[in-house]
Amino acid sequence: MPPSPLKVALPAILAALLSAPPLAAQGTPATATASAEIDLEALLARMTTAEKVGQLVQRMGGRQRALNSRLTPEELDLVRAGKVGSFLHVAGAEPLRELQRVAVEESRLGIPLLFAMDVVHGYRTIFPVPLAIAATWDPADAESAARIAAREASAAGLHWTFAPMVDVARDPRWGRIVEGAGEDPFLGSAMAVAQVRGFQGASLAAPDTLMAATKHFGAYGAAEGGRDYAGADISERTLRETYLPPFEAAAAAGTASYMTAFNALGGVPVTGNAALLRGLLRYEWGYDGVLVSDWRSIDELIAHGVAGTRTEAARLALEAGVDIDMVSDVYAEEVAALAEADPALMALLDEAVLRILRAKRDLGLFADPFQYHDTAREAAVMLAAEHRAEARRIAERAIVLLENSGKVLPLAKDAGKIALIGALADDAPSALGSWKARGLPEDVVTLRAALEAAHPGVTYVAEGVDAALAAAIAADVVILALGEDFDRTGEARSFAEIGLPREQKELLFKVLEVGKPLVVVLMGGRPLAAPELSGLDEAAVLGAWLLGVESGPALVSTLFGDNNPAGRLPATFPRASGAVPFAYDQLPSGRPADEDLANDTVRWRDQPTLPLWPFGHGLSYTTFGYGELTLDRANIPANGGTVTVSIPVTNTGERPGEEVVQLYMRDPVASVSRPVKQLRGFRRVPLQPGETRTVSFTLSAAHFALWAQAGAWMVEPGAIELMAGGASDRIEARATLTIEGEHVSDRSPASIPVESSVD
Ligand code: BGC
Repeated sequence: MPPSPLKVALPAILAALLSAPPLAAQGTPATATASAEIDLEALLARMTTAEKVGQLVQRMGGRQRALNSRLTPEELDLVRAGKVGSFLHVAGAEPLRELQRVAVEESRLGIPLLFAMDVVHGYRTIFPVPLAIAATWDPADAESAARIAAREASAAGLHWTFAPMVDVARDPRWGRIVEGAGEDPFLGSAMAVAQVRGFQGASLAAPDTLMAATKHFGAYGAAEGGRDYAGADISERTLRETYLPPFEAAAAAGTASYMTAFNALGGVPVTGNAALLRGLLRYEWGYDGVLVSDWRSIDELIAHGVAGTRTEAARLALEAGVDIDMVSDVYAEEVAALAEADPALMALLDEAVLRILRAKRDLGLFADPFQYHDTAREAAVMLAAEHRAEARRIAERAIVLLENSGKVLPLAKDAGKIALIGALADDAPSALGSWKARGLPEDVVTLRAALEAAHPGVTYVAEGVDAALAAAIAADVVILALGEDFDRTGEARSFAEIGLPREQKELLFKVLEVGKPLVVVLMGGRPLAAPELSGLDEAAVLGAWLLGVESGPALVSTLFGDNNPAGRLPATFPRASGAVPFAYDQLPSGRPADEDLANDTVRWRDQPTLPLWPFGHGLSYTTFGYGELTLDRANIPANGGTVTVSIPVTNTGERPGEEVVQLYMRDPVASVSRPVKQLRGFRRVPLQPGETRTVSFTLSAAHFALWAQAGAWMVEPGAIELMAGGASDRIEARATLTIEGEHVSDRSPASIPVESSVD
């Protein structure tokens, strides 16, 4: 069995890499498009050390990340001198054409620049936040949003987005949970692949695609206590099985770059972590694309306490395999002297330069450096009608019906007088969420605007308990917008308390006393600990996230039943801030949870252990029934067999609707303790009333592998339990598969796509 590369001594890795054939001889990476026009090795041979270092330098276009693509004369001189390889936070087809012109016409070698930005969930047409897109449980929606974002951003002169953010997040105190796909590595892998495809399209050289930067490699989401930038200290099994799969899936999908995480893993800051970057990512996974640091994270190696000087920080990052220094200027100041004094470092510098030049070639920049600067295209695509329509469709699909007691929803078209209460109902900036690129609040149709346009009798009260109660008393139904605004989630937005704010709870309780049918529209970018919202009479709760420019219309069509909600939670909603992290794929424990307080089991004493709303949860205006789970064979060999798992699902209610059929596995007896459930398939299925369709998933033996104690992926012999249902806590059918023999697999099971079909 091969030893884990993380355990291989670093000098051995470096020696192996340095004795490897030169990059150009290793063949074209998966993402590359053939382009015979430029001989990059020859170009490298002509570069001075200073010009080589320049390619590694990324500068910001404006001060403090404010967008400014018109540079100062001093900045332009740096470009002319070949001292900059890329810019971030710049935009605009015309100003970037001029900047590119300076690079290609006025620098000695004429190497084009790369222009980058965080285009995360839209550029001008802002889609739901990524956590909400994950709630569609439909990778096609994630791909479509990324495709449109790329179309708009590339028209504004951009080549490169710092997305997708694929960090698995199981601690909702961490504000960056909003940027990713939630808690599950399998769902997260599917969303990662979809976004890489959406951004990069079929060819990076096409003028309407962007290079993706999958971030933040490798366990940024495991920051201790949910505090942003805090270190992660997790086992290698947890790293490999939970945090890395979406990154691994993105590599297989051809992501052209990765970004390192700010934080440390097991005490070693990732940006200087050679075992993780050069060992695991480059050597073990064979990844040969660009690796960019996070914002000043090379310089931050000093604050982390692993480098005493900027020179040491530069050496650590270069040795670890970081190609581009985002804005800290450590490489700009330090690498030339280091490389000239040490041939091994010069070889690493050359490799880094080649990787960056290859990315520029693959983007088509050597062939035509101005193809991203068509102002007519820029004017035509921004907020195009079809982009807005897609933003609305995806927003509708992201909404999760969390509660619906007394069937308050959908509202009748003649619902009478509606009291709409809460400032979030008319908060356009919040609809845009974190990372809004060039999104504008005036592009947003808020819930208030859409509801007033759709319904005659709406009284809106932003704030003030008295006015809110008066409106509730006069109304036939109350819609209460609760939750968090855009500024509570995102980078550096970690909170120890993630319940509803006190004023919102008081307002809720007072409104409940009025006794009118109530709809809570729960907004925000994280799972909130809001136990007040469950178990109410005659109350519905819509999980409404931060839904982008078409928030209001998507919510109104859902309130009145034109859209039957079918989103599902991509992350657990806890009952209390102290009950996190808690993900559905718990290990079983020697004393499984038992709510009987007479027994000592793995639970809290002061509240139920089960979450408020579990992973995969989401209701519908119709109901669904399941048949039996069948397998096309009862046994498969560990070394390559496949099994097709099928289950019929019926719409047993009276409205058309969509069910998200979820397939989970468990390995009941293995060499290491296995999670009680692990997602291994999902499919969103539209069903007419009375209609039955059969959903099938085809899995290979490799989907059942585990990270064994020996440090390898093992498919072990024995039983695998398969479970299907509509949520992680609603298993409707089970079957058992037997694996014969054992086999070493080469990839994390959660990163391997599962084919599904619907008959
Ligand atoms: C964030 C990254 C982002 C970068 C550039 C950093 O602070 O962590 O996600 O890509 O800034 O904006």
